[in-house]
Amino acid sequence: MKKSIGFRLNGQPTTLDTEEDRTLLWVLRTDLGLTGTKCGCGIGACGSCTVVVDGTAVRSCQTTLMEVAGKEVTTIEGLARGDELHPLQQAFVDHGGLQCGFCTPGMIMNAYGLLLEDPRPSREKVVDAMEGNLCRCSAYKRILEAIESVASSNGGRS
Ligand code: FES
Ligand code: FES
Repeated sequence: MKKSIGFRLNGQPTTLDTEEDRTLLWVLRTDLGLTGTKCGCGIGACGSCTVVVDGTAVRSCQTTLMEVAGKEVTTIEGLARGDELHPLQQAFVDHGGLQCGFCTPGMIMNAYGLLLEDPRPSREKVVDAMEGNLCRCSAYKRILEAIESVASSNGGRS
C-alpha cells in the first residue's frame, strides 16, 4: 500500500508517495535519479550502497524507506559544494583511491560517516570501519591513504 513518506535528502525536504517497504537504494536510484549510490550485491555484503542517515553510515540496500522517515539522508551527491569536492572526494582523486570507481561512492560515504563520529581515527579504527567495504579492483592501500590524509589534516567537514 502506498504511503506518503518524508525525509531530508542532501539538505532538501523530500516526500514520496510509495510503498514504505521499498529499499532506500532503489528509491534513490530509480525514483530520485541519484545513481551515485551503487548496487553491488543487494544483500548487505559489499558496502557499495552506503549512505549516511542521521550521521551514521548505513547500507541502503538493507534500509527501507520507512526507516528513514523524518531523518536526514546524505548521499555521495550531497558532499560536494558546487564545484568544490569534499575533502574526502579530493583525497581519493589525489591518492588514486579508485580504479573502476564502482565501490568509490560507498567507500567515501562510509569514511564520511566514520569521520563524523571520530574526526581523527587511528589507523586501526579506519581499517576496522572500512573492512566491510569491498573493492574488486583492490585499491585498498590507496583508499586507506586517502582517508588517513583527511583524518590527519582536519577530519573533513561535516
Ligand atoms: S549493495 Fe548494499 S551492501 Fe552490497
Ligand atoms: S575501484 Fe573498482 S571496485 Fe573499487
